[in-house]
Amino acid sequence: MALRGPSQAYADMLTQPAVPMSTAAARELVTILKAEAGIRIDPSNTQFISYRLDRRVTALGLDDYDQYLTHLQSPEGPAEIQRLVESLATHTTSFFREKAHYDWLDTVGLPKLIETGAGRTHPLVVWSAACSSGLELWSAGIVLDRYSHKVQGGLRWGLVGTDISAAILRKARLGIYSSSELAGLSFDLRSDYLLRSKPGARISPKQRVYRIAPALRNRAHFSAANLLGKLEGHVPLADVIFLRNVLIYFTAEDRTRAIRNVMQCLRPGGYLLLGHSDNLRSLPAGLTPTGTAVFRKDER
Ligand SMILES: C[S@@+](CC[C@H](N)C(=O)[O-])C[C@H]1O[C@@H](n2cnc3c(N)ncnc32)[C@H](O)[C@@H]1O
Repeated sequence: MALRGPSQAYADMLTQPAVPMSTAAARELVTILKAEAGIRIDPSNTQFISYRLDRRVTALGLDDYDQYLTHLQSPEGPAEIQRLVESLATHTTSFFREKAHYDWLDTVGLPKLIETGAGRTHPLVVWSAACSSGLELWSAGIVLDRYSHKVQGGLRWGLVGTDISAAILRKARLGIYSSSELAGLSFDLRSDYLLRSKPGARISPKQRVYRIAPALRNRAHFSAANLLGKLEGHVPLADVIFLRNVLIYFTAEDRTRAIRNVMQCLRPGGYLLLGHSDNLRSLPAGLTPTGTAVFRKDER
Protein backbone atom coordinates (compact mmCIF):
# COMPACT_ATOMS: atom_id res chain seq x y z
CA MET A 1 0.00 0.00 0.00
CA ALA A 2 1.36 3.44 -0.87
CA LEU A 3 2.32 5.66 2.07
CA ARG A 4 0.35 8.89 2.43
CA GLY A 5 2.28 11.68 4.10
CA PRO A 6 1.83 15.46 4.14
CA SER A 7 3.55 15.77 0.74
CA GLN A 8 1.07 13.28 -0.74
CA ALA A 9 -1.80 15.28 0.76
CA TYR A 10 -0.34 18.43 -0.79
CA ALA A 11 0.01 16.70 -4.17
CA ASP A 12 -3.64 15.56 -3.91
CA MET A 13 -4.68 19.12 -3.15
CA LEU A 14 -2.98 20.39 -6.29
CA THR A 15 -4.63 17.77 -8.49
CA GLN A 16 -8.13 17.93 -6.98
CA PRO A 17 -10.40 20.87 -7.69
CA ALA A 18 -10.56 23.13 -4.63
CA VAL A 19 -13.87 23.47 -2.81
CA PRO A 20 -15.27 26.82 -4.00
CA MET A 21 -14.62 29.63 -1.50
CA SER A 22 -16.02 33.11 -2.04
CA THR A 23 -14.11 36.15 -0.78
CA ALA A 24 -16.90 36.78 1.73
CA ALA A 25 -16.72 33.17 3.00
CA ALA A 26 -12.93 33.41 3.47
CA ARG A 27 -13.41 36.64 5.44
CA GLU A 28 -16.09 35.07 7.59
CA LEU A 29 -13.93 32.01 8.34
CA VAL A 30 -10.92 34.03 9.48
CA THR A 31 -13.21 36.25 11.57
CA ILE A 32 -14.57 33.17 13.38
CA LEU A 33 -11.04 31.84 13.91
CA LYS A 34 -9.85 35.16 15.34
CA ALA A 35 -12.86 35.45 17.66
CA GLU A 36 -12.45 31.88 18.96
CA ALA A 37 -8.69 31.54 19.28
CA GLY A 38 -7.11 34.93 18.59
CA ILE A 39 -5.32 33.43 15.58
CA ARG A 40 -5.07 35.79 12.61
CA ILE A 41 -4.93 34.52 9.03
CA ASP A 42 -4.95 36.71 5.95
CA PRO A 43 -8.31 36.04 4.23
CA SER A 44 -6.64 36.38 0.83
CA ASN A 45 -4.58 33.26 1.66
CA THR A 46 -7.35 31.00 0.38
CA GLN A 47 -4.82 28.37 -0.74
CA PHE A 48 -3.78 27.82 2.88
CA ILE A 49 -7.38 27.70 4.10
CA SER A 50 -8.30 25.24 1.33
CA TYR A 51 -5.29 23.05 2.11
CA ARG A 52 -6.30 22.78 5.75
CA LEU A 53 -10.11 22.62 5.38
CA ASP A 54 -11.19 21.29 1.96
CA ARG A 55 -11.01 17.67 3.04
CA ARG A 56 -13.29 18.36 6.02
CA VAL A 57 -15.84 20.27 3.92
CA THR A 58 -15.88 17.43 1.37
CA ALA A 59 -16.22 14.80 4.12
CA LEU A 60 -19.31 16.64 5.39
CA GLY A 61 -20.81 16.29 1.89
CA LEU A 62 -20.92 20.07 1.38
CA ASP A 63 -20.41 21.74 -2.00
CA ASP A 64 -18.79 25.01 -1.00
CA TYR A 65 -17.72 27.20 1.92
CA ASP A 66 -21.00 29.09 2.06
CA GLN A 67 -22.65 25.78 2.96
CA TYR A 68 -19.88 25.15 5.50
CA LEU A 69 -20.61 28.52 7.14
CA THR A 70 -24.29 27.57 7.37
CA HIS A 71 -23.21 24.28 8.98
CA LEU A 72 -21.21 26.29 11.56
CA GLN A 73 -24.49 27.87 12.66
CA SER A 74 -26.31 24.53 13.03
CA PRO A 75 -26.61 22.66 16.37
CA GLU A 76 -23.31 20.92 15.47
CA GLY A 77 -21.75 24.37 15.05
CA PRO A 78 -19.81 24.64 18.33
CA ALA A 79 -18.08 21.26 17.83
CA GLU A 80 -17.38 22.12 14.20
CA ILE A 81 -15.88 25.50 15.17
CA GLN A 82 -13.49 23.60 17.45
CA ARG A 83 -12.49 21.43 14.44
CA LEU A 84 -12.06 24.57 12.35
CA VAL A 85 -9.66 26.02 14.94
CA GLU A 86 -7.76 22.73 15.10
CA SER A 87 -7.47 22.59 11.32
CA LEU A 88 -6.23 26.15 10.93
CA ALA A 89 -3.88 26.36 13.95
CA THR A 90 -0.18 25.79 13.33
CA HIS A 91 1.44 23.24 15.64
CA THR A 92 5.10 23.50 14.61
CA THR A 93 7.34 22.59 17.54
CA SER A 94 10.47 20.62 18.34
CA PHE A 95 12.59 19.36 21.21
CA PHE A 96 14.77 22.09 22.74
CA ARG A 97 13.48 24.72 20.31
CA GLU A 98 15.15 28.06 21.12
CA LYS A 99 17.64 26.18 23.24
CA ALA A 100 18.88 29.28 25.10
CA HIS A 101 15.77 29.10 27.30
CA TYR A 102 16.59 25.57 28.46
CA ASP A 103 20.20 26.55 29.17
CA TRP A 104 18.88 29.53 31.15
CA LEU A 105 16.50 27.26 33.08
CA ASP A 106 19.32 24.88 33.98
CA THR A 107 21.92 27.45 34.95
CA VAL A 108 19.93 30.46 36.22
CA GLY A 109 16.20 29.82 36.56
CA LEU A 110 16.17 26.61 38.59
CA PRO A 111 18.93 27.66 41.04
CA LYS A 112 17.09 30.95 41.73
CA LEU A 113 13.71 29.28 42.14
CA ILE A 114 15.09 26.59 44.45
CA GLU A 115 16.70 29.29 46.61
CA THR A 116 13.20 30.64 47.26
CA GLY A 117 11.79 27.23 48.21
CA ALA A 118 10.43 25.92 44.88
CA GLY A 119 10.90 22.16 44.60
CA ARG A 120 11.15 21.91 48.39
CA THR A 121 8.36 23.76 50.19
CA HIS A 122 6.07 23.40 47.16
CA PRO A 123 6.40 21.33 43.97
CA LEU A 124 8.16 23.29 41.25
CA VAL A 125 5.70 23.49 38.34
CA VAL A 126 6.57 24.21 34.71
CA TRP A 127 3.63 25.04 32.47
CA SER A 128 3.77 25.00 28.68
CA ALA A 129 0.81 27.24 27.87
CA ALA A 130 0.51 26.48 24.12
CA CYS A 131 2.17 23.10 24.28
CA SER A 132 1.25 21.68 20.86
CA SER A 133 2.34 18.00 20.74
CA GLY A 134 4.26 18.34 24.00
CA LEU A 135 7.89 18.56 22.85
CA GLU A 136 8.42 21.88 24.64
CA LEU A 137 7.12 20.44 27.92
CA TRP A 138 9.13 17.21 27.63
CA SER A 139 12.28 19.26 26.97
CA ALA A 140 11.67 21.25 30.17
CA GLY A 141 10.96 17.96 31.97
CA ILE A 142 14.33 16.58 30.88
CA VAL A 143 16.09 19.67 32.29
CA LEU A 144 14.17 19.33 35.56
CA ASP A 145 14.75 15.59 35.90
CA ARG A 146 18.49 15.93 35.32
CA TYR A 147 18.71 18.88 37.72
CA SER A 148 16.75 17.02 40.37
CA HIS A 149 19.22 14.14 40.23
CA LYS A 150 22.10 16.55 40.82
CA VAL A 151 20.79 18.22 43.99
CA GLN A 152 20.90 16.76 47.47
CA GLY A 153 17.55 15.16 48.31
CA GLY A 154 16.15 15.74 44.80
CA LEU A 155 13.26 18.06 43.96
CA ARG A 156 9.47 17.88 43.97
CA TRP A 157 8.32 18.91 40.53
CA GLY A 158 5.52 18.59 37.97
CA LEU A 159 4.69 19.45 34.36
CA VAL A 160 1.52 21.03 32.98
CA GLY A 161 0.66 21.33 29.29
CA THR A 162 -2.32 23.18 27.83
CA ASP A 163 -3.40 24.00 24.30
CA ILE A 164 -6.59 25.06 22.54
CA SER A 165 -6.52 21.96 20.31
CA ALA A 166 -7.95 18.76 21.80
CA ALA A 167 -6.48 16.73 18.93
CA ILE A 168 -2.91 17.89 19.50
CA LEU A 169 -3.34 17.36 23.25
CA ARG A 170 -4.23 13.69 22.63
CA LYS A 171 -0.89 13.33 20.89
CA ALA A 172 0.94 15.16 23.69
CA ARG A 173 -0.69 12.95 26.33
CA LEU A 174 0.25 9.77 24.47
CA GLY A 175 3.81 11.00 24.10
CA ILE A 176 4.46 8.91 20.98
CA TYR A 177 6.58 10.38 18.19
CA SER A 178 8.10 9.37 14.88
CA SER A 179 11.85 9.50 14.29
CA SER A 180 11.45 12.69 12.24
CA GLU A 181 10.07 14.46 15.34
CA LEU A 182 13.14 13.71 17.44
CA ALA A 183 15.34 16.41 15.89
CA GLY A 184 16.88 18.49 18.66
CA LEU A 185 17.14 15.54 21.05
CA SER A 186 20.69 14.21 21.43
CA PHE A 187 21.33 10.47 21.23
CA ASP A 188 22.22 10.38 24.94
CA LEU A 189 18.93 12.00 25.88
CA ARG A 190 17.04 9.68 23.52
CA SER A 191 18.41 6.65 25.32
CA ASP A 192 17.60 8.15 28.74
CA TYR A 193 14.09 9.49 28.06
CA LEU A 194 12.56 7.50 25.17
CA LEU A 195 11.21 3.99 24.85
CA ARG A 196 11.59 2.54 21.33
CA SER A 197 9.09 0.35 19.48
CA LYS A 198 10.58 -3.11 18.89
CA PRO A 199 12.24 -3.66 15.51
CA GLY A 200 10.26 -6.00 13.29
CA ALA A 201 10.64 -7.54 9.87
CA ARG A 202 7.90 -5.27 8.55
CA ILE A 203 9.00 -2.07 10.26
CA SER A 204 11.71 0.03 8.64
CA PRO A 205 13.88 2.24 10.92
CA LYS A 206 11.95 5.27 9.62
CA GLN A 207 8.63 3.76 10.71
CA ARG A 208 9.77 3.09 14.27
CA VAL A 209 8.04 5.11 16.93
CA TYR A 210 9.32 6.38 20.25
CA ARG A 211 7.50 7.01 23.50
CA ILE A 212 8.40 9.41 26.27
CA ALA A 213 9.59 7.43 29.29
CA PRO A 214 7.27 7.11 32.32
CA ALA A 215 9.77 9.15 34.39
CA LEU A 216 8.44 12.21 32.52
CA ARG A 217 4.96 11.08 31.49
CA ASN A 218 3.97 10.29 35.08
CA ARG A 219 4.71 13.85 36.11
CA ALA A 220 2.75 15.54 33.31
CA HIS A 221 -0.83 16.69 33.21
CA PHE A 222 -2.42 17.97 29.97
CA SER A 223 -5.70 19.82 29.55
CA ALA A 224 -7.44 22.09 27.07
CA ALA A 225 -7.27 25.82 27.75
CA ASN A 226 -7.75 28.91 25.61
CA LEU A 227 -5.19 31.63 26.37
CA LEU A 228 -7.87 34.24 25.78
CA GLY A 229 -10.30 32.67 28.24
CA LYS A 230 -10.25 32.28 32.00
CA LEU A 231 -7.20 30.26 33.05
CA GLU A 232 -7.08 30.94 36.77
CA GLY A 233 -8.40 27.90 38.62
CA HIS A 234 -7.94 25.64 35.56
CA VAL A 235 -4.18 25.27 35.91
CA PRO A 236 -2.09 25.11 39.10
CA LEU A 237 0.14 28.02 40.09
CA ALA A 238 3.32 27.68 38.04
CA ASP A 239 6.92 28.68 38.76
CA VAL A 240 7.88 28.84 35.08
CA ILE A 241 5.57 29.44 32.13
CA PHE A 242 6.59 28.78 28.54
CA LEU A 243 4.38 30.97 26.32
CA ARG A 244 6.26 30.71 23.09
CA ASN A 245 5.52 30.97 19.39
CA VAL A 246 1.82 31.55 19.82
CA LEU A 247 1.57 35.30 20.49
CA ILE A 248 2.90 35.94 16.98
CA TYR A 249 -0.52 34.89 15.66
CA PHE A 250 -2.39 37.39 17.88
CA THR A 251 -3.13 41.11 17.66
CA ALA A 252 -1.27 43.37 20.11
CA GLU A 253 -4.44 43.57 22.19
CA ASP A 254 -4.86 39.78 22.38
CA ARG A 255 -1.14 39.34 23.20
CA THR A 256 -1.55 41.59 26.22
CA ARG A 257 -4.75 39.77 27.21
CA ALA A 258 -3.06 36.34 26.95
CA ILE A 259 -0.08 37.50 29.02
CA ARG A 260 -2.35 38.99 31.69
CA ASN A 261 -4.30 35.72 31.80
CA VAL A 262 -1.25 33.49 32.21
CA MET A 263 0.26 35.86 34.78
CA GLN A 264 -2.69 35.09 37.06
CA CYS A 265 -1.31 31.53 37.24
CA LEU A 266 2.36 32.49 37.74
CA ARG A 267 3.78 32.58 41.27
CA PRO A 268 5.24 35.92 42.37
CA GLY A 269 8.97 35.64 41.65
CA GLY A 270 8.25 33.07 38.91
CA TYR A 271 9.36 33.36 35.30
CA LEU A 272 7.55 33.87 32.00
CA LEU A 273 9.40 32.78 28.86
CA LEU A 274 8.24 34.21 25.53
CA GLY A 275 9.28 33.15 22.03
CA HIS A 276 12.40 34.90 20.80
CA SER A 277 10.39 36.45 17.96
CA ASP A 278 7.29 37.31 20.03
CA ASN A 279 8.17 41.01 19.96
CA LEU A 280 6.09 42.85 22.51
CA ARG A 281 5.70 46.55 22.06
CA SER A 282 4.66 47.08 25.65
CA LEU A 283 5.00 44.83 28.67
CA PRO A 284 2.09 44.38 31.08
CA ALA A 285 2.70 45.82 34.55
CA GLY A 286 4.17 43.40 37.07
CA LEU A 287 6.78 41.83 34.80
CA THR A 288 10.48 42.71 34.76
CA PRO A 289 12.75 41.60 31.89
CA THR A 290 15.65 39.55 33.28
CA GLY A 291 17.15 38.00 30.16
CA THR A 292 16.49 37.36 26.49
CA ALA A 293 12.73 36.77 26.29
CA VAL A 294 12.73 35.96 30.04
CA PHE A 295 10.51 37.97 32.41
CA ARG A 296 10.17 37.74 36.18
CA LYS A 297 6.86 38.35 37.92
CA ASP A 298 7.28 41.00 40.59
CA GLU A 299 6.80 39.98 44.23
CA ARG A 300 3.58 41.40 45.61
C1 LIG B 1 3.44 27.02 16.83
S1 LIG B 1 2.78 26.09 18.18
C2 LIG B 1 3.97 26.47 19.44
C3 LIG B 1 4.31 25.26 20.27
C4 LIG B 1 5.38 25.49 21.35
N1 LIG B 1 4.96 26.50 22.29
C5 LIG B 1 6.70 25.86 20.75
O1 LIG B 1 7.13 27.02 20.85
O2 LIG B 1 7.33 24.99 20.14
C6 LIG B 1 1.39 27.12 18.64
C7 LIG B 1 0.35 26.37 19.48
O3 LIG B 1 -0.53 27.34 20.05
C8 LIG B 1 -1.82 26.78 20.10
N2 LIG B 1 -2.79 27.88 20.21
C9 LIG B 1 -3.17 28.77 19.27
N3 LIG B 1 -4.06 29.64 19.75
C10 LIG B 1 -4.26 29.30 21.05
C11 LIG B 1 -5.08 29.82 22.08
N4 LIG B 1 -5.89 30.88 21.88
N5 LIG B 1 -5.04 29.22 23.29
C12 LIG B 1 -4.23 28.15 23.51
N6 LIG B 1 -3.43 27.61 22.57
C13 LIG B 1 -3.44 28.18 21.35
C14 LIG B 1 -1.93 25.98 18.80
O4 LIG B 1 -2.95 25.00 18.86
C15 LIG B 1 -0.51 25.41 18.68
O5 LIG B 1 -0.44 24.11 19.20
